[in-house]
Amino acid sequence: MFRCLHRGSNLLTGVFNASLLRTSANTVSILETKTGRKSAINDNTRSISTTPLPEFDKDGLKSHDDLYRLSIEKPDYFWGTLARSRLQWYEDFSLTKDCDMKSGHIRWFLDGKINASVNCVDRHAESSPDKIAMIWEKDEPGTQEYVTYREFQKLLCKMSNVLEGHGVKQGDRVAIYMPKSPTAVAAMLACARIGAIHSVVFAGFSAEALAGRIMDAQVETVITADQGVRGGKIIDLKKVVDDAVQTCPCVKRVFVYQRTGNEVPMSNIDINLDKELESASDSHTPAVLDSEDLLFMLYTSGSTGKPKGIAHSQAGYLLYANMTMKHVFDYKEGETFGCVADIGWITGHSYVVYGPLSNGATTLLFESTPVYPDPGRYWEMVERLKLNHIYLAPTALRMLLKNGDEWVLKYDRSSLRKLGCVGEPLNNEAWDWYYNVVGEGRCDICDTWWQTETGGIAITPRPSSPDAEIRPAMPMRPFFGIEPVLLDPVTKQELTGGNVKGALCVRHPWPGMARTIYGDHDRFLKTYYADYPGFYFSGDGAYRTQDGYYQITGRMDDVLNVSGHRLGTAEIEDVIDDHEDVAESAVVGFPHEIKGEGIYAFVVLKDRVSKSEEELMSDLKHACKSRVSSFAQPDFILLTPGLPKTRSGKIMRRILRKIAANKPDELGDVSTLFDPSIVEILVDKHQQSL
Ligand code: PRX
Repeated sequence: MFRCLHRGSNLLTGVFNASLLRTSANTVSILETKTGRKSAINDNTRSISTTPLPEFDKDGLKSHDDLYRLSIEKPDYFWGTLARSRLQWYEDFSLTKDCDMKSGHIRWFLDGKINASVNCVDRHAESSPDKIAMIWEKDEPGTQEYVTYREFQKLLCKMSNVLEGHGVKQGDRVAIYMPKSPTAVAAMLACARIGAIHSVVFAGFSAEALAGRIMDAQVETVITADQGVRGGKIIDLKKVVDDAVQTCPCVKRVFVYQRTGNEVPMSNIDINLDKELESASDSHTPAVLDSEDLLFMLYTSGSTGKPKGIAHSQAGYLLYANMTMKHVFDYKEGETFGCVADIGWITGHSYVVYGPLSNGATTLLFESTPVYPDPGRYWEMVERLKLNHIYLAPTALRMLLKNGDEWVLKYDRSSLRKLGCVGEPLNNEAWDWYYNVVGEGRCDICDTWWQTETGGIAITPRPSSPDAEIRPAMPMRPFFGIEPVLLDPVTKQELTGGNVKGALCVRHPWPGMARTIYGDHDRFLKTYYADYPGFYFSGDGAYRTQDGYYQITGRMDDVLNVSGHRLGTAEIEDVIDDHEDVAESAVVGFPHEIKGEGIYAFVVLKDRVSKSEEELMSDLKHACKSRVSSFAQPDFILLTPGLPKTRSGKIMRRILRKIAANKPDELGDVSTLFDPSIVEILVDKHQQSL
């Protein structure tokens, strides 16, 4: 599809000519010739940065500590300056922020006019048209395609014209259910360009999960692919969409991109995207959007109810993704940034799409799996594509380290500078392996803590300070503008000093924080601002060391983290409880060597059941897979005559967690249970099942 050009080039950053913004893509490319800017080829330049944030050199601030202090003490000056220097605006903002952490009212860069797609694409297509914007690392190793900024700009403009031509307009919600590809990124950024709100749904979710997300946002337009290709297997994506839209009367059109080109049934609402793109104009005038217009929503699990559509806005999110990508990973011009996350997760949004592209970097679109065709895939790819950064999930590391060092050592990894990870705690063994074996003891490990809601990385060992000490297995230090606070869950008092553990909250607003839950602002306020008034509450617990470094202790609510995927226990229980033979269930997490956390379901059957135990177990696993996703399948199902409940009928999950973790001696006080004898039965049954 795209030519293989050349790797790497210089990005000409700096102040942009605002008048360019009012022009179409074509005009931009003419101006590009006028400016006479040329991109350097294949020099992989490491520009020597003398100071982390040159914007504040004039204030005499060069150390990370000074800059961090400024970000906390004078946030308006700090973020306002960076917003103006790092982003390109149609109109300057009149007020840097209007936020109230007590009421969850968050607004940044008020009255500013901007377009995220222009910041991610047009300005780089103008300054460095031949620079590689993305490397599409397709499933089969060695079949990668390179897309320059100019080529991508054309695709983006075509996609924007196609969407607009079919009536998609500002404020519309567009669901994207696609494998990673330049076309998928173009779909996201085309929404951003015309002001539609994209809702990317991970293309591994079931039809029911997709339908729930479509209905919640009353989506009229879906963009999908005929099929996906992953780990050598074909995945029938269009079929999932067909099943989903049957239950979604709001859907008016489904664009189908041909990833494999195999024939798939097309109905009267289906549109062949490739054909439309072929004939569309490659010039498009972007919409002039308000800083606070919504850019996207992304569903994530909570402890109760259905997944919530976390909504992010144009300017604040973009600035935060831009800043964190550049500084957390010390990204330098000419480098190739390799975040292997899917675009269906926030990591893919911030560190595959918005962060790297807004910095004019070369970003990786990894379509495959860490073990295809063998467990050396990541490192073979690092050698072949000369990746300078790799950003992945601890669960993949744990799996790969079990396969032995030889899969790593046979490839040249000398291009790597930073090794990032996200999504779950990075345990000591995996940290050691990552640092010593993968990184040969010379690359920083960036263990990054953040969430869908934070928009970008919030805690990370070296947020711009190249010489700062790194300690294994903790994200350690807050990024600019983030002041973590630990609060006592019972007294709600702030815990000061070191060696304390509490609810992880943030004191001040930052530009990248979520603005609302789409269609349910009350739930937003209740979830994040009610428990600890005046603070943003993350839902996680954390420990602060004697030296003031942060270590995440895990979720404080009923949210599981399975291989880095967030799952509400209630979501799984709902599926299990729907089975005709099930009376009730309780799902908890338990420590799992590879996945971090496994799923353990305690299931109480009705008095009369229609199936054998074996059939039931298989039904339940299948239901979780087909109605949520394959990662929602319980690892263990224990059929039990009852659940441990208090006198008021509340399930005591604390007890279930201990049983699932195989720690029957740590059950604690069970005397408050309505029927304490159930505990013994559960422990026995669990032990028999091992
Ligand atoms: O529990 C924390 C865990 O992942 C949760 C956020 O999940 P999600 O919104 O899906 O975003 C994942 C990618 C940003 C957090 O509440 N988590 C994330 N990073 C870490 C982590 N737990 C421990 N250490 C981390 N570095």
